[in-house]
Amino acid sequence: MQNFEFYNPTRVFFGKGQIEQLDGLVPSDAKVMVLLGGNSARATGTLDEVKAALKQRDVVEFNGIEPNPTYETLMEAVAAVKASNVDFLLAVGGGSVIDGTKFVAAAALYDGDAWDIMTSFGAKVQAAMPFGTVLTLPATGSEMNKGSVVTRKSLKSKLPFMSNHTFPQFSVLDPTKTYTLPARQIANGVVDAFVHTTEQYLTYPVNAAVQDRYAEGLLQTLIEQGPQAMATPEDYEIRANIMWAATSALNGTIGAGVPQDWATHMIGHELTALHDIDHARTLAIVLPSLLRHTKETKKAKLVQYAERVWGIKTGSDDEKVDAAINQTQDFFESLGIRTRLKDYGIGESDIDALLSQLGKHGMVALGEHQSIDLESSRKILLGAR
Ligand code: NZQ
Ligand code: ZN
Repeated sequence: MQNFEFYNPTRVFFGKGQIEQLDGLVPSDAKVMVLLGGNSARATGTLDEVKAALKQRDVVEFNGIEPNPTYETLMEAVAAVKASNVDFLLAVGGGSVIDGTKFVAAAALYDGDAWDIMTSFGAKVQAAMPFGTVLTLPATGSEMNKGSVVTRKSLKSKLPFMSNHTFPQFSVLDPTKTYTLPARQIANGVVDAFVHTTEQYLTYPVNAAVQDRYAEGLLQTLIEQGPQAMATPEDYEIRANIMWAATSALNGTIGAGVPQDWATHMIGHELTALHDIDHARTLAIVLPSLLRHTKETKKAKLVQYAERVWGIKTGSDDEKVDAAINQTQDFFESLGIRTRLKDYGIGESDIDALLSQLGKHGMVALGEHQSIDLESSRKILLGAR
């Protein structure tokens, strides 16, 4: 196992009715800005519940953080924070609202051009406002991590940042708040959590037995319960398992002390920025092709994945690996997520522009061996046609 530091200060309140806890979590004299996406939290009643729990506090709203939150919109929120003496932020929504809130929390205290936060991948963040979250969509793990992904529309740049200052102070995870999700978002969430797990698991062995078994448990849970969550929208136990699986996939636990990949995510971000494809769908397109492309360097873990996650016990190592990658792709398709570029109207002629954006963003040495250069990314994208 590699050396590691594990730090995660986010308090999690999990289960039915936990929104009530907000009264004890948000300072009683705080001026609170509730940050929201489109209309979902209002339409489902979650916003009313949040406001009731905040009781007498002075509350303002910021509406309109879009999926794949944009710098342009978030800077409006920063201006509103500064103009109204808000001292606590509360994100109510999915990963986009939470990521957006993280950016606002950091940008409101940043002296200088706030886009530096993104171009430094968070290194320039020295402080952030306190914030909490009420999660309505299990997928990203943003509710219990320090990462955020922001898109600058004018540049078509979708970049991640991370900072120890942008962990939520607390997150409320009530699985009943996910009952209203459309099937498309449940499927997206399952695939996003699945790929977060593989990005930290499908690399090379370092004898990290706990992290490996934990990752395999998460993958098997998603494979088993993902389709059930889509079939039975109001089943509490299933939604609870999916929600905690998604949080656990990216709260630092399975990634501690192991090599990590993240190439699928970085290539996927360019697909979203240029072609407006849902985040999880970009991962479902890239991952199978990436695994085929890197199968020699990932072989030991891919064989372990085949045997332990998919129960493939017969055949040569190569046959096991091929079967496991095919089953992974079939699993994504079974959730209604198409896995080929052509399914989204993208062809070979679009690949150069994607590579040019990767180059512009410095994504030229990706993967656990930093061996995925632009030529490899080209092959991965060509393989995903
Ligand atoms: O905008 P509203 O009206 O709230 O509707 C949202 C949105 O349209 C809707 N929704 C959310 N909760 C709902 C609901 N609809 C009905 N009932 C509910 N309970 O779902 C739609 C998608 O929401 P969004 O927040 O965009 O989805 P998700 O949670 O998948 O977040 C995706 C974003 O997170 C980033 C992605 O890049 C993408 O920008 N990621 C963040 C990560 C992190 N911070 O660690 C890691 C991930 O890899 C990911 O990159
Ligand atoms: Zn993701």
